[in-house]
Amino acid sequence: MSLKDNKYLTPRFHLFPTSGWLNDPNGLCQLDGIHHIFFQYSPDQPKGGEKTWGHYSTKDFINYEFSGVFMKPDLPEDTSGVYSGCAYVEDHKMYIYYTGNVKHAGDYDYILEGRESNTILVTSENGVDASEKRILLRSQDYPDNLTLHVRDPKVLCKDGIYYMTLGARTKKDEGCVIVFKSADKINWDFSHFIEKADFGYMWECPDLFYVDGKQFLSISPQGLEAQEYRFQNIYQSGYFNTKEDLLAEGDGLDEFTEWDYGFDFYAPQTYVDEKDRTILIAWMGMPDAEYGHDASIEDGWQHMLSLPRELVYDSKSKKLRQQPMAEIKELRDKKIDIKNLADIDTYELYLSEFGQSDFTIQINEGFNIKYSKLTNDMVFSFTDEMLGSNRTTRKLKLADGEKIENIRFYIDTCSIEIFINDGLYTFTTKYFKAKEVENTISLEGSIENIEAYSLKPFNINIK
Ligand code: FRU
Repeated sequence: MSLKDNKYLTPRFHLFPTSGWLNDPNGLCQLDGIHHIFFQYSPDQPKGGEKTWGHYSTKDFINYEFSGVFMKPDLPEDTSGVYSGCAYVEDHKMYIYYTGNVKHAGDYDYILEGRESNTILVTSENGVDASEKRILLRSQDYPDNLTLHVRDPKVLCKDGIYYMTLGARTKKDEGCVIVFKSADKINWDFSHFIEKADFGYMWECPDLFYVDGKQFLSISPQGLEAQEYRFQNIYQSGYFNTKEDLLAEGDGLDEFTEWDYGFDFYAPQTYVDEKDRTILIAWMGMPDAEYGHDASIEDGWQHMLSLPRELVYDSKSKKLRQQPMAEIKELRDKKIDIKNLADIDTYELYLSEFGQSDFTIQINEGFNIKYSKLTNDMVFSFTDEMLGSNRTTRKLKLADGEKIENIRFYIDTCSIEIFINDGLYTFTTKYFKAKEVENTISLEGSIENIEAYSLKPFNINIK
């Protein structure tokens, strides 16, 4: 099988389902040199449908193998979907934990009745062949104050003890994380809740991870009220700094920082690779969002994964920087002059040495980024309805006294990833070119240093 080749739609350096639907990245890990990137996948159903796990693998983030469906619903315990989960690597094996989703037919609300969320284990040595599925936890094994919304296990090991976090919704409609402990990866005992008052009704995809020895908890909360500069999408994703060890107790959450300020970024997951780098990949999409139209659906697929990003701790702001993996530099083809993009659809642009005044960057005459010195904010807006697919504006406020130092763009046929101030802020979006578009980028304001490269595509081998 070969990849589609639609000049205006086919992503060149982002992973996509090739046909069908993609959502959350799942089971991210590196095993014996190979990075495994699984994802929520409904083959042949570009608007979503039965959830399976699809599988990409790569040694270098440039050359990929796509091996299609890794596992699909085939048990009563996962009959309505093989939902999100993780891969924990030990003894040259992936221990894959996921949620078996069950929705019983009938007149149910599927919150308090009619649903099961089973935590299931399979193992694999190559991401292609899976062991038998083993049910580890069922809905009745979770605490009684929870609804039936409990899912997305992520497992880690600390000081010889295994911990599993699961996202949940309480009967009082509060989002939380529940923590289980195990000595053998198979038998799990409930340990404690991690919670925060008034912070949404459901927390999806929890991920407790460390960078530079500091502990963080990432969640994808639902039900946060939009503010001018925060929580601008229907659902959010971000991370808490922590002030107490969350593996020991549940009220150590500190400040919450959104991962991204764009339209399309949700359900990120992290893993640590063999070079000890913490890598984050997100779903470049947004559940239940109102896309006016998504031209890729006509082409038989929908949604992508973000570029893999390395997380780096910034001790000054106590925040995490997201930086495109060093390997991505290998995609650079030629230095280009941005005044002559013409039919260059994929490129990287780096801007620095900003005179400290207002500036505007315009991409394809329909997407604007405006920085205002007075308000010290950036406004990202689609002025072209087609290009933005009815999405309009997102805003980012810089911290007091903070300046724009640099901005790096990765522009693919149908997505834009922007890394501001070495990735302290990012903006990720899909965009939808009308046919016959001539690529342009224009800059207004004082920007002294401009570097741009055309980019080569990923090399994807479909098995
Ligand atoms: C997040 C999510 C997860 C769930 C999966 C189902 O986007 O809703 O909570 O496991 O997607 O596809």
